[in-house]
Amino acid sequence: MKRTATAHANIALVKYWGKRDTRLNLPATGSISITLKDLFTRTTVEFSPRLEGDTLILNGSPSHHEKEKRVSRYLDIFRQCARVDLFARVESENNFPTGAGLASSASAFAALAAAADGALNLQSSPTKLSELARRGSGSAARSIFGGLVEMNPGQKNDGSDAVASQLYPPGYWPLEVIIFITTQFQKPVGSTQGMNLTAETSPYYNDWIRSNAHDLDAMRRAIDTKDFQQLGEISEANCLKMHGLAMSANPGIIYWNGLTVTLLHEIRSLRKRGIPAYFTIDAGPQVKVLCPSGNSGKIKDELRHIPGIKQVMVTTTGPGVTIEGE
Ligand code: DP6
Repeated sequence: MKRTATAHANIALVKYWGKRDTRLNLPATGSISITLKDLFTRTTVEFSPRLEGDTLILNGSPSHHEKEKRVSRYLDIFRQCARVDLFARVESENNFPTGAGLASSASAFAALAAAADGALNLQSSPTKLSELARRGSGSAARSIFGGLVEMNPGQKNDGSDAVASQLYPPGYWPLEVIIFITTQFQKPVGSTQGMNLTAETSPYYNDWIRSNAHDLDAMRRAIDTKDFQQLGEISEANCLKMHGLAMSANPGIIYWNGLTVTLLHEIRSLRKRGIPAYFTIDAGPQVKVLCPSGNSGKIKDELRHIPGIKQVMVTTTGPGVTIEGE
């Protein structure tokens, strides 16, 4: 009743920001992402009759109560599926900063879903795992798959069709992603809270939802034809639209810091000099730069001297979730 799984983070090129159902965590729109090779979560889940409660060890230390409760509630879904009444010990490690806008909940819940499923021998298919991962975090549904991935918002009330699927495997288009860490601090407003506040208060929320189909179509076309400029332009526009939307909530949500904004201008200025680089940002202050394979060294060298950058990581398209011993 013990299993270890590894899942990789992903970044959305067309973003999910809003839910059609908060209880089952059903997204209001589709999204498209790229799974990242070098950012991952490795999680071990052990169910045991010896335990008197669920425990969560995160990056080597007991996690704080709120996180443990979220994991415990999440494990109830698996206990129900397997008809068992056992508590679990969950041990999870991220190889990147937690909660700073690097989609740690995506890799965390994808790894947790796969490890819990394996530990209880549920033998769920990847699609079913994606559905289960979504219950933990919407973006986690995408991290079940590698490469370029699309999340379907689904239409059914039970959420069985709100699952991700792979558009193309990792080898199809080895894009590079450079991540600039602008601060190590945790984000002040979590994604769930941020998107719910946006849906309730932003005057632009309905327009955001309406414009999603166009962005998805255009992104799918860019990917099908490996048109990097198109992919970059849609990613940037969709990212700015999402952040503009979040800023239009009441009170407005500002995920960026000064360095985030400096980097956006610098990336646009690189482009004016003929260097193929586009940015995207999730619910945090870190800037991710997309570029075709072979360009990350040059871009990193051009930008690394900007004062205040804490860390730079370079990665590429990565694999889907794996369960050890399977
Ligand atoms: C900005 O998946 O963290 O990264 O489903 O409430 O857990 P919950 O939200 P989460 O939100 C991700 C938001 C985003 C965009 C994206 O990844 O699509």
